[in-house]
Amino acid sequence: MKRELKISAIKNGTVIDHITPGKAFEVARILGLEDFSAPVSIAVNVSSGKSGTKDIIKIENRELSKNEVDRISLVAPNATVNIVKNYEVIDKKKVEIPSEIVGILPCSNANCVTHFEPVKTKFLLESITPLRIRCFYCERVLTEDDIKREIARED
Ligand code: CTP
Ligand code: ZN
Repeated sequence: MKRELKISAIKNGTVIDHITPGKAFEVARILGLEDFSAPVSIAVNVSSGKSGTKDIIKIENRELSKNEVDRISLVAPNATVNIVKNYEVIDKKKVEIPSEIVGILPCSNANCVTHFEPVKTKFLLESITPLRIRCFYCERVLTEDDIKREIARED
């Protein structure tokens, strides 16, 4: 008998599917789900199609902002965001790392001008694998680990 973890379908809300295995907790932090009062289901390392695994987050009664979707793209570049209405998936979009990452995470360089002037942070995407983005202002390169450290801070 095939045994797999099933999590319930939702009636209305958002399903973030195909999250890189193990990254659901980072996505949950980005979305501030610790403080969210509607039902949330998080499944990690569940089987995904042919061979692989994935994480899934299902959030009742919530839609995501562009800012949130862009931050998710930096930790889970293959995720899909499904909008559910009355149990049906009415919209499905794959997240996409923007080529210019504006106003969604602080610069790791404590001396960067963005910490002292009222400007939005801006990074240029240099490489997806491995993930590297470069601050437009101070040229500091942020790696995946730097991004992981910075990304949950902005809201
Ligand atoms: N889902 C849900 N509640 C619903 C409808 C869908 O939790 N009422 C979930 C499904 O379990 C799945 C995701 O939303 O994890 C996307 O649903 P669907 O598009 O029906 O699944 P697939 O066709 O398998 O999606 P994909 O092709 O993106 O893998
Ligand atoms: Zn900088």
